[in-house]
Amino acid sequence: MSTLPFVFGVKVEGDMFTDRIDETKRLVANFQHGINTIIISPRRMGKTSLVEKVVSLTASNEMRIAKMDAFGCRSEREFVDAFATAVIRATSTKWEEWVENAKSFLSRFSPKFTISQDPQTSFSVSLEYTQPNHAIEDILELPEMIAKQKQIDMVICIDEFQQIGEFPDSLTFQKKLRSVWQLQSHVHYCLYGSKKHMMEKIFLNRHYPFYQFGDLMYLKKIKREEWVSFICDRFAQTGKHISNDLAQQICAVTEDYSSYVQQLAWLVWLQTDKETNAEDLSRGINSLLDANEALFIQQTENLSEYQMNFLKAIYSGIHTGFTQQSVLQVFHLGTSANITKLKKALQEKDLITLSAPNHLDLSDPILGLWLKQRVWMKN
Ligand SMILES: Nc1ncnc2c1ncn2[C@@H]1O[C@H](COP(=O)(O)OP(=O)(O)OP(=O)(O)O)[C@@H](O)[C@H]1O
Ligand SMILES: [Mg+2]
Repeated sequence: MSTLPFVFGVKVEGDMFTDRIDETKRLVANFQHGINTIIISPRRMGKTSLVEKVVSLTASNEMRIAKMDAFGCRSEREFVDAFATAVIRATSTKWEEWVENAKSFLSRFSPKFTISQDPQTSFSVSLEYTQPNHAIEDILELPEMIAKQKQIDMVICIDEFQQIGEFPDSLTFQKKLRSVWQLQSHVHYCLYGSKKHMMEKIFLNRHYPFYQFGDLMYLKKIKREEWVSFICDRFAQTGKHISNDLAQQICAVTEDYSSYVQQLAWLVWLQTDKETNAEDLSRGINSLLDANEALFIQQTENLSEYQMNFLKAIYSGIHTGFTQQSVLQVFHLGTSANITKLKKALQEKDLITLSAPNHLDLSDPILGLWLKQRVWMKN
């Protein structure tokens, strides 16, 4: 198989991973010095890839890294099962050791194992609670107990952490997590997730348990010059050529959003014979809109007329001052009392985001382009 020039939508590693030098250093230091970290960024910016890279740089016998993804968890019960599984997996290297560890550390819970085809790599634990009142806390203590006994340090990485915000009685659960975790000295946490709004609600609200839990990293965009040389290099390595200028335009259209840069670069690469021209770029952009259309329709089909108008106002360059009469009138936003509601609803859907105090932006630049070219231009 020939070299794949670009990758998007899944975590990237090796050659495909570019830049992030400062962020990597900071996260490695946090792991090594036991500092809890929270990573927040818009969707598809590269959180998972960054964490995985740091995991590969820091994991050792003395420093165990447990990884879990909370995405599929619908309740605290499911969360703690996934948590116990991740911890047991990270602290034992062999199947026999897993069972032994689970038995000795989880004896009070009668753990049940579910094993997938390859027992060397994959299993999960589900726990029967004999004393339901304390069960959750006991499991949350598990990593610290094991770490102490084995004299190791541990970092627990939890992807899509914002999911806990959707659990029934979420705040009580958040309090439990925080009160147990903050007392642990051998175990630290790296919490990240792709729903920016919910992550901010959990970590930035003074009245919420996770306020000031650790080092809060806002993952920024990869710099344009990095992207341009990445794109040009990948074209060159696969026997094609793209000019600096057209590579810049790929970044400009996608506003340097990691996944979109790679996706558009790939689509332009496909169009390119040997040397990319302007035509290849515009065909690439069209395919990018095609590829994302189903998702965009789904994201916008239930929006009210006012909500759509609000998106249009932002796309047209209005980022603040929505309650001014002229803005209300030009964009048909209703009364000024309507604005707060509109903002809240669109933020909760993650369609708009506060990118600076008092500055609202569309969360997804390609959604904006799609609306303009395929929805608004038609009407
Ligand atoms: N350091 C990087 N170098 C090159 N491309 C990157 C990098 N980080 C992210 N990308 C691009 O972004 C895509 C998404 O990366 P990743 O899954 O790590 O992001 P994420 O923030 O975890 O996404 P999600 O919000 O869906 O969880 C990758 O497939 C790749 O195209
Ligand atoms: Mg991710």
